[in-house]
Amino acid sequence: MRYGFFDDSRREYVITRPDTPLPWINYLGNKSYFGLVSNTAGGYSFYRDARLRRLTRYRYNNVPTDTGGRYIYVRDDGPPPAAGEYWSPTWQPARRPLETYSCRHGLGYTAIGSTYLGIEAQTRYFVPLGENLEVWQLIVTNHRENVARLSVFSCVEFCLWDAWDDATNFQRNFSIGEVEVDANDDSPGVIYHKSEYRERRNHFAFFACSEPLAGFDTQREDFLGPYGSWDSPAAVARGCSFNSVAHGWAPIGSHHVRLELQPGETRQIIFVLGYHENPDEEKFDPPGSQQIDKRTVRPIIDRYLDAGNVEAAFAALRAYWDELLGVFQVETPDIHTSRMVNIWNAYQCMVTFNLSRSASFFESGIGRGMGFRDSNQDLLGFVHMVPERARERILDLAATQLESGGAYHQYQPLTKRGNDAVGGGFNDDPLWLILAVGAYLKETGDWSILDEPVPYDNRPGSEQPLYDHLERSLRYTLDRLGPHGLPLIGRADWNDCLNLNTFSSTPGESFQTADTKDGTTAESVFIAGLFVLAAKELAGIARWRGSPQEADRFEVEAAKMESVVCQHGWDGDWFLRAYDDRSHKVGSRECAEGQIFVEPQGICVMAGIGLDAGLDGSQPSAKKALASVGEQLATAHGIVLLQPAYTRYYLHLGEISSYPPGYKENAGIFCHTNPWIMIAEAIVGDGDRAHDYYLRINPSAREKIGDLHRCEPYVYAQMIAGSDAPTHGEAKNSWLTGTAAWNYVAITQWILGIRPTFDGLEIAPIVPNDWPGFEATRIFRGVTYRISVDRVGRGNSVALLVDGSPIEGHLVPLPPLGQTEVMVNVALGRAGD
Ligand code: BGC
Ligand code: NOJ
Repeated sequence: MRYGFFDDSRREYVITRPDTPLPWINYLGNKSYFGLVSNTAGGYSFYRDARLRRLTRYRYNNVPTDTGGRYIYVRDDGPPPAAGEYWSPTWQPARRPLETYSCRHGLGYTAIGSTYLGIEAQTRYFVPLGENLEVWQLIVTNHRENVARLSVFSCVEFCLWDAWDDATNFQRNFSIGEVEVDANDDSPGVIYHKSEYRERRNHFAFFACSEPLAGFDTQREDFLGPYGSWDSPAAVARGCSFNSVAHGWAPIGSHHVRLELQPGETRQIIFVLGYHENPDEEKFDPPGSQQIDKRTVRPIIDRYLDAGNVEAAFAALRAYWDELLGVFQVETPDIHTSRMVNIWNAYQCMVTFNLSRSASFFESGIGRGMGFRDSNQDLLGFVHMVPERARERILDLAATQLESGGAYHQYQPLTKRGNDAVGGGFNDDPLWLILAVGAYLKETGDWSILDEPVPYDNRPGSEQPLYDHLERSLRYTLDRLGPHGLPLIGRADWNDCLNLNTFSSTPGESFQTADTKDGTTAESVFIAGLFVLAAKELAGIARWRGSPQEADRFEVEAAKMESVVCQHGWDGDWFLRAYDDRSHKVGSRECAEGQIFVEPQGICVMAGIGLDAGLDGSQPSAKKALASVGEQLATAHGIVLLQPAYTRYYLHLGEISSYPPGYKENAGIFCHTNPWIMIAEAIVGDGDRAHDYYLRINPSAREKIGDLHRCEPYVYAQMIAGSDAPTHGEAKNSWLTGTAAWNYVAITQWILGIRPTFDGLEIAPIVPNDWPGFEATRIFRGVTYRISVDRVGRGNSVALLVDGSPIEGHLVPLPPLGQTEVMVNVALGRAGD
């Protein structure tokens, strides 16, 4: 069954029935204030940190699912027969059988509308650029032949800021809730949530309504009634608020507005929910009282209760996205490719940039901050859209690096400090910083970033140029080599669940934080491949920077590691995965299970290992490794992580074998790894295979199997159940995954082949043989490149005409200063072939 369709011209996905297989969500916010919003208005909001500054409550794992949201109820106040009927225009939480329903998820906004009993109600939620608030526009139209007398109730449930504490510390929480209410007869009504404001917090939340209030509620149990629930609140059922003021228990914000609409009449009500901070010395008004000083917040509230200002803010939001997405637009023969590149994949990259892995339907916002390796990889997918924010992100990340070159695995977005609560020693972590900085330099040409002084572990006085951080990242690997000369794996490498030093036998113990052995034996072929890739990248950086000797040194290290991989990292038909704590092979034909893993096949080929080898198997061969992937790991739904799946728990392997076969790291289709294989296929020149793999996990291409896939068809999911799973093809953990950035890189830079380099834009498409060509516009270092690719024969050779003149090779040099447009015509393939 289809649950909706793409409206590409508006850059929206339109959901046409509310009961999607899972909540299909979207994100609001761009910089500091964020929210999740589902297709039925479920979700929550927070300021910068989903754990520490959560504004509203959401109940994960609740029934019905997706409970807690931006709720609106409409009630018919009479006359009969509809008198007393009430519903939610967003379907949840009242879940009436709406006559029409649609949800449009757009870029940074969601609009949900419906009709019931002749009353149309359209909601639109968005966060204006640069503001710490969200606007809800509600437009109600009376399609009846008679006057409609209606009540509108809004409702949010406030979170007492720290989401973890909020969900656990009831003995305290039930006593600390505090609110203030401004509800004069003729001015807009504002509810302030100020729990803990009296003491050490200087922030509060506000929830305002553009209309005079008929009433309000701020105490949940009054609004809902004894043992009440969100689908039938007492206040809504009886048609009148209780004007409750919360002292402790569960503070909410609910406005009650009465409307009288003539036939055909339309009215707009605006609600504004937001976060505000006062300076310490201006918390209270009058000073010495316990009342919030509202002098700085009121003008902000008033601005967004004005319909004209709201429309202008919405137009600015759309323009912002048009500009961001305008950096790279394509027209290809394949709609799924064009749509994902032009709209949704780029959008998802911005979301992973902002949220890392913190808050989604699958990430509670409590557990995980900003991942070091995750954020570095995410950068690959957004650097072209917001380079100045990429710069800031790189400097933030590098500032958490340790003097040893190692990294905290995560940092908290609010403090930007490394988070000790999560285990460290993931030995791949620091290498990703080199790839992120390389991508930034290629995109921007801003070499000054390398000279930025950046502290270690955020310690004042420890500042060194960023370049020094990159050197230490490489050194970190070289200081930790194992018995074969391969990198020690530490707690784990990219695969968090390959815990070769953990040996956990305690039920429930976290593999991320459990004690691990010192780990002087277990080695990772994956880190070796990543090291080769990163060392070559750093060599390129050093050479460009005018340090040829250092560049040579990094290349020598890369070559040495490559030869170690050739000697000890090749299994005959594919790259090995690792050596365990007893120096036994992992990911080898010698293993009973887990004989072949996808990660080293991708990363080693991307690092250039085995590109020249023949197929006899004595030496690593990229082609052979990829053929093995095709034969052993590729399924119709994507490439699984390993085969055969582990069928039981192996103490010496760790979390990977804790998952049932076919799920997550245990032979799931871990989508993040698939683009590595696409890139590898492009590197060996197979555009048909690269694009075929691309389509297997492309969400838009999977829209037609929505009942199996179940997650949103507009964004990538971390995982699709593998062929060993009873639910093969079912996706999970959508939105916050490195899959977004890597697929973006694979399709734009390697398959479409439009690739920033230190020296200019390289254009070398490796597309399917049956593609007649494609068009692209790419803004690169301030210049707009209009690229037109025409296939003249089979294969991947290219002949470039730049502004009408032929050039040698693939690299389009930057035009002379002042020229802002470049036309590139690409003849693809060899005529006659
Ligand atoms: C998951 C991994 C994830 C890790 C992070 C594991 O349970 O399987 O995908 O990276 O947790 O905490
Ligand atoms: C998800 C984590 O966020 C990422 O860092 C890791 O590489 C993958 N899981 C694989 O375990």
